[in-house]
Parts: sequence; structure tokens; C-alpha cells
Amino acid sequence: MTWALTPLTEEQRAIQTVAREFAAAEIAPYSDRWDRDAYFEPSLVGKLGELGFLGMMIPERYDGMGLDTLTYLVALEEIAIVDASVAVMLSVHNSLPTQMLLRWGTENQRERFLKPMARGELLGAFALSEPEAGSDAASLRTQAVRDGGDWILNGTKAWVSSGTTGEVILAMARTDGPDDRRGARGISAFIVTPDLPGFSVGKKEDKMGLRASPTVQIHFSDLRVPGDRLLGDEGRGFIYAMQSLDNGRLGIAAQAVGIAEAALRASAAYAAERKQFGKPIKEFQAIQFKLADMATRVSSSRALLHAAATAKDRGERITQFSSMAKLQASEAAMWVTTQAIQIFGGYGYVKEYPVERLFRDAKVTEIYEGTSEIQRIVIARELYSHT
Ligand code: CAA
Repeated sequence: MTWALTPLTEEQRAIQTVAREFAAAEIAPYSDRWDRDAYFEPSLVGKLGELGFLGMMIPERYDGMGLDTLTYLVALEEIAIVDASVAVMLSVHNSLPTQMLLRWGTENQRERFLKPMARGELLGAFALSEPEAGSDAASLRTQAVRDGGDWILNGTKAWVSSGTTGEVILAMARTDGPDDRRGARGISAFIVTPDLPGFSVGKKEDKMGLRASPTVQIHFSDLRVPGDRLLGDEGRGFIYAMQSLDNGRLGIAAQAVGIAEAALRASAAYAAERKQFGKPIKEFQAIQFKLADMATRVSSSRALLHAAATAKDRGERITQFSSMAKLQASEAAMWVTTQAIQIFGGYGYVKEYPVERLFRDAKVTEIYEGTSEIQRIVIARELYSHT
């Protein structure tokens, strides 16, 4: 029942099938339990790594699959249809830290970190936000100070996805001084690993949804980072983070499309089975109209996402279109899952049926990697930047 408006190649369909079959066999039987227990299954990383899913857009010379963005997003949607928590782990790893290393890393950094990440031996995370720097990311306070050839980092990063399991964390910190504040230009990116002295994982968030994806605070307390762990140029970290979020937001859009697709499928199946007033509820126009609107929003979100992905693969700037795709897909996911609960009625409100989790999981797609309000700001600014 997936309405694919973008014609997929044979290779893309084959990878989609691998993702679908993996999700059905290795994820679907456990998703409800992982959600209930807020449990992340660590063996998933190795299994997804064996399939090549942790290096999907990494070139083969760095042990990745060398796939295009569209193929990656099609596979990601299949995982999200079954479990949005697993999908965000894949999305963050594939879109943010690995792409940052590929784009701005030195050859040594790629050898040491990117290759094992692409093989699925090390999981990546991304640490931009802080307790008091969310939408206003450039106001982050974590400070990095030079000490000989090293850097000493102090501060707290917040809302780090895969934070308890992330083994290579791309962390943004200020490298400008208190008397020389340079705003966004005073931020640099560092490759942080949990083995560095001064690293600790703090509070694990008790979340409404996406419960099987651990989200934590990370503390740097006189964290000593070797000089060769600075990524790219000093003072460019914020711009690297923003450029990476252009990619990351496509992954979140794919996750949202997957959640909405799952809600649509569950609702259509339930409406065909559930009888009231002597007939299946799908016979009532009130339900048909809901299903029609749900299907339209799922397909239009997917179409916009795939258009943005192909623009990226053509090498175009996608800042505006990735924000549009994320805005459209996340708001569609929230709306579609709300309608799904309504179609299920009381059964939609209990954990025994699937749409309750989908509704909870959908909400965060309107918040992380930039709220819907931030996406609108980015879209509006881009309207003028091209004139
Ligand atoms: N591509 C390239 N450069 C970009 C850019 C982009 N997409 N966006 C901004 N920049 C550049 C600007 O050109 C500017 O460069 P110059 O100094 O050369 O002029 C610099 O970055 C600063 O940009 P702005 O002046 O636009 O910065 P701002 O302070 O006004 O902020 C913002 C802009 C869009 C609001 C930005 O702060 C933002 O996106 N906020 C949301 C943060 C976010 O998405 N956080 C998610 C964290 S990750 C997460 O959710 C958890 C997870 O693991 C899933």
C-alpha cells in the first residue's frame, strides 16, 4: 500500500526489500517491549552494520556502501515504519557524524573514525544543543581552551540521541574567548570519544515517545581532547553543524513519513475489520475522508522528501527544501497519527494497539533537528537569500 511517486531503480528496490525484511524479522517482534522498557538493543548496531546500513552514503573506499541519498531515505523509511527509535539511531549516524567526517575530516580522522563507523563497529552521535541553547544553537556555552597541543573542554551537551551508546560524538564547543565573542563564528567541532578523561554521561531523559532511543546529557569536565581531534577549521563548527543538519533533516523527514505510513496502514486495516452499525467502518464516508486525507498527506510528504533528496544528489543546495521536507513530513505525521487514534476510537488510546506509540513517536519529529518554527524561519530566509 506504499504509494511511491518516485520511480525507484532495481538497486533501490532491492535495498528497500532488505530493510523491510530486516525490520520485520529483527525489530517488529520486539518494538513494543523496547518502547515499554525504554530499552535500546545494542546488538542492532552490529546487525545493521553487517547489512551496510551504517555506512550507506559513505564511499566504498571508506568501507561504506556508496549509495545515494534517495536510496538511504527509502531504506530509512522502511525501518521507521516498524520502529522510529531504531530509525533515529540510523538517521543521526548516517546524516550527521559520518557525513561531517567525510566532508571535513582529515585522512587520518577518516581512517581512524569514519571507516569503523561505516562498518558498524562504532556508533556516531551529534552534540550541538545544550540545556540553555536549543533553537538558538549559536548561543551554546561549552568552552574549549587550548592547552599545549590539546584542547580542554568544559560544559554540558543536551538531547544527545544515541548518547549512551554513541562511541564517536561530533561535539560543538566555543573556541572564542570571553573577551572576543564571535557568535556563530566562535564555534568549532571536535571528535569526542567516551574514553577521554573528563567525559561522563549524565541524565537519561524519560521521554513521551521514541523511548527505545536513549537521549542523554553529556558532561565534559576538563575533558582533554587531542589537537588532532579538531574537525576542519577552527571557528567553522557551527557552519558545519548547519550544513550537516540540511542532511539530517531529510532523515527526520523520512522517519516522519515512515511513522505516518505505519499509522495509515494500521488505520486502513482496522477500518476494514471494525464493524459498527452493522457494517465495517470503512463503509462510512466520515472514515473514508479521513483515510483519503491521511494517504494524501503521506504521499505528498514522501514526494517532497524524494524531490529534496534527488536535488541533493544532483549537488544542489538543499537548505530550503530539506527544511520544507521536514516541516511537511513531521506535521503530516502528527496529523495522520491523530486521525489514526480517532479511527481506532478507545482502542487507539491504549497500548494494546499500535497507533498509540506512533502518535507519541510522531511528536518529536516536530521538535528535534530544529522545531517546525525554526524550519519556517529557515524556509522564509532562503526565499530572500536567492533574490
Ligand atoms: N548552510 C550553510 N551555512 C549556514 C547554514 C546552512 N544551512 N545555516 C546557517 N549558516 C551559516 C550562515 O550563513 C552564517 O554564516 P556567516 O557567519 O558566514 O554569515 C552562520 O552560519 C550563522 O548563521 P545564522 O546567522 O543564520 O545563525 P542564527 O544564530 O541566526 O541561527 C538557525 C540560525 C537556523 C536558527 C539555527 O540556529 C538553527 O538551525 N537552530 C536549530 C538548531 C537545531 O536544529 N538543533 C538540533 C540539534 S540536533 C538534535 O536535534 C538531536 C539529535 O541528535 C537528533
